[in-house]
Amino acid sequence: MSVLEIRNLHASVEDSEILKGVNLTLRSGEIHALMGPNGSGKSTLAYVIAGHPHYTITEGDILIDGESILAMEADDRTKAGVFLAFQYPVAVPGVSVANFLRTAVSNVRGYTAQTPAVSGRGGVIGSNLMPMREFRKELTDKMKEFNVDPSFARRYLNDGFSGGEKKRTEVLQMAMLEPKFAIMDESDSGLDIDALRVVSDGINKLATTERGFLVITHYQRLLNYVKPHYVSIFFDGRVVMTGGPEVAHTLEEKGYGWVEREFGAEAVAA
Ligand SMILES: Nc1ncnc2c1ncn2[C@@H]1O[C@H](COP(=O)(O)OP(=O)(O)O)[C@@H](O)[C@H]1O
Ligand SMILES: [Mg+2]
Repeated sequence: MSVLEIRNLHASVEDSEILKGVNLTLRSGEIHALMGPNGSGKSTLAYVIAGHPHYTITEGDILIDGESILAMEADDRTKAGVFLAFQYPVAVPGVSVANFLRTAVSNVRGYTAQTPAVSGRGGVIGSNLMPMREFRKELTDKMKEFNVDPSFARRYLNDGFSGGEKKRTEVLQMAMLEPKFAIMDESDSGLDIDALRVVSDGINKLATTERGFLVITHYQRLLNYVKPHYVSIFFDGRVVMTGGPEVAHTLEEKGYGWVEREFGAEAVAA
């Protein structure tokens, strides 16, 4: 069992404080939904956990199994088991899905760090990557399991992909990397029903006892397909409330105006 713990986290970008004391705990086996209005800092939180260099942490800590990961570069956090699915995945023309995944998997599984003396394959192109045959077999198996068309492997990453196809690639990437903690930033990306289905099926398949999911979503819609154990409301740079799935329904009924009245600056001052 692993635990990702965010303790009193404060983070700024260009001198303005965006995260204002986030507390959140994610354990393996849990699906935790994070809901909040636009601009409240949800994507910032996702980037900060993943180690995006743009943000400055001014206070607090992020720990995996009690060890701080703040000093780790994004790359090492990925190796430590943190996966971030971007809200807006970028296209990489010239890099095929298969090549991208082989590099990513090799990195996470330690192949890229191996010296030729260890791998015994010095001088061979790709010797610091997962052996092609093994990789191919695993990729083919996972593509079958997750209903991804085999032709995907050769296509350029996200280049001309539909929303659903991007999500399919993301789920496949997660299936290959097997992260301990997956953070999905789905907020206002306007997923169509196909993409929504791909994401929710992917999460439901991958939500094993070995893995924790932080699902960031603006709308309750995704939660019709994915059943979270916890729902937290994010407002003005912090978690203001945590409860069970009923919290999502309250939000759907009452909207975010209610959160503002309850937890906004004026409410706090009163
Ligand atoms: N790179 C940045 N530079 C300046 N301000 C930023 C940057 N990224 C985010 N912000 C600001 O931080 C706040 C939170 O943004 P974001 O984390 O994207 O919120 P959410 O995902 O909840 O909609 C917004 O007010 C946004 O303008
Ligand atoms: Mg966002």
